[in-house]
Amino acid sequence: MEPRTGERVRALEWTGEALRLLDQRRLPHETGWVEARSAAEVAAAIRDMVVRGAPAIGIAAAYGAALAVRAHAAGPAADWRPAFEAELRTLEAARPTAVNLAWALARMRRRLDAALVAGEDPAAALETEARAIHDEDVAANRRMGALGAARLGGRCAVLTHCNTGALATGGWGTALGVIRSAHAAGLIERVYADETRPWLQGARLTAWELVQEGIPVSLLADGAAAWLLRQGGVRWVIVGADRIAANGDVANKIGTYALALAARRHGVGFMVVAPVSTLDPATPDGAAIPVETRAAGELLACGGSPVAPAGAGAWNPVFDVTPADLVDVLVTEAGVVERPDRARLAALLRAAQAGE
Ligand code: MRU
Repeated sequence: MEPRTGERVRALEWTGEALRLLDQRRLPHETGWVEARSAAEVAAAIRDMVVRGAPAIGIAAAYGAALAVRAHAAGPAADWRPAFEAELRTLEAARPTAVNLAWALARMRRRLDAALVAGEDPAAALETEARAIHDEDVAANRRMGALGAARLGGRCAVLTHCNTGALATGGWGTALGVIRSAHAAGLIERVYADETRPWLQGARLTAWELVQEGIPVSLLADGAAAWLLRQGGVRWVIVGADRIAANGDVANKIGTYALALAARRHGVGFMVVAPVSTLDPATPDGAAIPVETRAAGELLACGGSPVAPAGAGAWNPVFDVTPADLVDVLVTEAGVVERPDRARLAALLRAAQAGE
């Protein structure tokens, strides 16, 4: 099956019976697929980083809910709903920071409620809803790509962090979608990509996507980023987000906060690109965002080989929170917000809801 999105990379594919996931742990050396046939298998794939990136996690969870209803829905809903809800809780607990996961599952629950009231087939209703979440994400990314590219102010070099491309989303990408759209418009001189320790999403995934697209990319060690910005020549740092609190604080891959500080110090623009599904009005500010900490072993070894002496411990938070006042521009599919704050985000959400 050809990618539906136009780009050469895709992370998820619904077969009608199962969710096929490109195994992102093995990229770029091997292209292998994992097939998830149950909600529990989807949850394990999210937890183990087979699929990663906030929007992609949300889409995978939606298909997981579709698989769960298929497994349980027989007879009166009161009999099977508790088992279905238990599957959703497992999906929801797979990773804590990306709010897209809870957002997608809440939407699937609402669709199930409506289907039951209307006497529709729950399995068909949830499959259609998961496909809609997937398709809407791609459309949102295309829109953000156009809006973000228009905001660059001309041809320039950019720096990005982690992987926010087709692999992290339903297709095209958020921050990397802006870069893709800008490249298509002749606006990208070069992309600098942080390698993004410890999972190396920048080296393994972003560089891989960009090479496949013929977009010039230079990889740098995370610790080199501030020094790069000090040289001049990079006009924008462009990143994605896993959760944006009501006041505009942004949770994203560990290292993003350091980039925002360095960008402000050196007069470089800091652009966050995220769909409305990443906005979390129920979380008042960054202090209330749950930040995932992963196993020490992810830092103490690289590619299976130890990089530290036996006996060393490690602190491995995999996200950080950038205060809203370091963000110059937030790009969403519902519009661009300059200097996001609580009032501007509330207005954006109202506009997004009115436009639905
Ligand atoms: O741990 P990961 O790889 O899931 O982290 C991904 C990120 O931090 C991305 O920047 C974020 O999800 C935005 S993806 C469009």
